[in-house]
Amino acid sequence: MSDDPIPGALRLQAGICKAFGAPFHAAMMERLAADYEQGGPTRGLVEPWIGASARKLFDDAVPIRLANAFTHLAMSGEAPALAAAYPTEANPAGDPDAAWGAARSAMTAHRDHLLAFMGHEPQTNEVRRSACLLGGFLTVAAETGLPLRCFEIGASAGLNVLWDRFHYRLGAAEWGDPASPVEIPTDWEGPLPPLEAKVEVAERAACDRRPTELTDPAQRRRLLACIWPGQFDRLARSRAAIDLALAGGTVVDEADALDWTRAKVRPEAGAATVLYHSIFWQYLPHETREALEAAILEIGDGATPEAPFAWLRMEPPMNNLATVELRLTLWPGGGERVLAEVHPHGAWVRWS
Ligand SMILES: C[S@@+](CC[C@H](N)C(=O)[O-])C[C@H]1O[C@@H](n2cnc3c(N)ncnc32)[C@H](O)[C@@H]1O
Repeated sequence: MSDDPIPGALRLQAGICKAFGAPFHAAMMERLAADYEQGGPTRGLVEPWIGASARKLFDDAVPIRLANAFTHLAMSGEAPALAAAYPTEANPAGDPDAAWGAARSAMTAHRDHLLAFMGHEPQTNEVRRSACLLGGFLTVAAETGLPLRCFEIGASAGLNVLWDRFHYRLGAAEWGDPASPVEIPTDWEGPLPPLEAKVEVAERAACDRRPTELTDPAQRRRLLACIWPGQFDRLARSRAAIDLALAGGTVVDEADALDWTRAKVRPEAGAATVLYHSIFWQYLPHETREALEAAILEIGDGATPEAPFAWLRMEPPMNNLATVELRLTLWPGGGERVLAEVHPHGAWVRWS
């Protein structure tokens, strides 16, 4: 048996896609794995990762990059046969056999398009992650009684910058403006966070090392191509959040998270300063991760009861990438709490 981790990574991701409601994507990944093993054109697309460790494949999200590249091609209008086989609301299963036939031809005919898409890590911006972060913001607001200054790192297009303008359904409970164009339902288990806390966002800012420019149709398409085929609710939420961000003038600074945090984030009296991120930590090189954590702890050391600082993150623990947790560290004090276990896209929250 070959010890090349690429087919295994594709099949592992296929299993995850199946478990998370994306069977069409899973079917494409299984076919890509088989094609790779048979020496097919898939090898040419993943060539930069041949010989890489399983960990590197995971960190670079190679299976998702590869499968999303076909979604992007299908959305582009350049490969009508591929597009015709993709899931639609009328036929949510799509036609994986027909899609694979078209995809195989596209690997030659549209190689440059696919390679260009794969040149960057999958840049999702999942709006429903706000349903997980919400409980953390509410906790900080309730415990400090102060307005919030919100700083997001690795914000992608900045769709979660306006988290307080969405309407949430948390199981039977709800939070936010019922007239919001962005409706976020999530299954909720366990006690609720302090929904009655007064929330005022006094300041908001965000950065990404490569922000998605929402005013550019090509970049919007790239963003939407990262939503798994057949997940029409996610697509609709993203489109609504894009409109809201465009109308609200959301700005995402183009900056490395470490430099930006060091330059911009410090506690200020009269507000609770919150640094937050979701599904971002794993993309940092080890040294940046360590330096960023040190910078955050230093900011925490400067917090006072009048100028508290919170580090809120929705991330898999680095020693168990199979689960995602919502963690909060609030200074002064600095005790770390796991607030919840959450679905990677925010479909459910198990509040501790
Ligand atoms: C998987 S996306 C998640 C986006 C968003 N946080 C969400 O949950 O929808 C990870 C994001 O982190 C950004 N990123 C990775 N390394 C970064 C760095 N060193 N500084 C700033 N952003 C970074 C990527 O560009 C990408 O937009």
